[in-house]
Amino acid sequence: VGSEMCIRDSNYRYHVLDTPIISDAEYDRLLQELKEIERAHPEWVTPDSPTQRVGGAVSERFEKVSHPAPILSLANAFDAAGLRAWYERISRLDERVQETSFVVEPKLDGLTVVLHYENGLFVRGATRGDGEVGEDITVNLRTLKTLPLNIPVTRAGPAAPERLVVRGEAFINLVDFEALNRQQEEKGEKIYQTPRNTAAGALRNLDPAVTAARPLRLYVYTIIDSSEAPPDTQSASLARLAEYGFPVSDIHIVCASIEEVVEVCESWIDKRHDLPYEIDGMVVKINDLELADDLGIVGKDPRGAIAYKFPAETVTTTLLDIGVNVGRTGVLTPYAILAAVQIGGVTVQQATLHNFDFIAEKDIRIGDKVMVKRAGDVI
Ligand code: IVH
Repeated sequence: VGSEMCIRDSNYRYHVLDTPIISDAEYDRLLQELKEIERAHPEWVTPDSPTQRVGGAVSERFEKVSHPAPILSLANAFDAAGLRAWYERISRLDERVQETSFVVEPKLDGLTVVLHYENGLFVRGATRGDGEVGEDITVNLRTLKTLPLNIPVTRAGPAAPERLVVRGEAFINLVDFEALNRQQEEKGEKIYQTPRNTAAGALRNLDPAVTAARPLRLYVYTIIDSSEAPPDTQSASLARLAEYGFPVSDIHIVCASIEEVVEVCESWIDKRHDLPYEIDGMVVKINDLELADDLGIVGKDPRGAIAYKFPAETVTTTLLDIGVNVGRTGVLTPYAILAAVQIGGVTVQQATLHNFDFIAEKDIRIGDKVMVKRAGDVI
């Protein structure tokens, strides 16, 4: 019990808080010690033991999981006018809108996951599916190092309710994605297209060992269902989730007016590139959760929230030529020489083509019209 407590605490401080308290070597030593204890006493192994994150059996298919409440989607706004129109619409429906504040959060470009806890224990995790029924990916989710296997993670946290279901987003950081592709390139294996579809493939892999080997991260942002009365604002919900020990994005800006919302959303068009992960917009949420709920839903979109989508960072240009870089170890990496275009304020004239299979697969030819996408520093 002693080593397990310390491993859990160290894991949380290292992965969630980013403030490690013990060295990596000490962490490995403790984990090894725990494994040995559990080998000698298999009856002591608990489902939330730190040793239970890796591995798990390969399954043939995923079981279905009914969500306790619909896992909704979001309507989009593409500019300031779209945000103001949303505000006007909901103000007409309910006069309380004029007094409420808003929370603006990054719109993570990942996959929704729904996590179930019973008396603090992580018991089930599902994909969104059709919003009513998802797929049971519990064994895969256990491998995510920031996913709490038991809440509260620290003794200082509030006691867990009997039943708690939360929603979050699983994603891959850009540097981890680039490193993964460099490894693939060195091994001569297939190149992943985007962090998002790599995360999707990893989460829905039937072999949890594959998921464990992918650098998946997690942010949690909604309490979907709880046996206790949940906080009455979105900002208090985020604070509560963080107190339980969930990873919560530290970007959530409370705005007093729609004009402030517009300003914050527009300020993130450029700032998005300073983040370690891809976001495709900002999510604007009515802070008062009772009001948000009362506003109701249209189709699958709640009226109390809206996604502000950033201007596209994909542009079309012409492939002028193909060059080849020779790496330190002699690896040849082809790159595209493009007719110069502006993407998000940066002039782009080159893009990676990864390897020769990539060129063959996409049937890329000089003179082609090509779509060019910028993801951080990678074109
Ligand atoms: S709230 C009803 N918050 O964006 C509430 N969603 O286009 C809807 N997403 O399917 C979700 N970051 O997967 C919310 N901070 C965030 C989000 C977020 C990413 C995703 C989510 C959803 C999609 C909607």
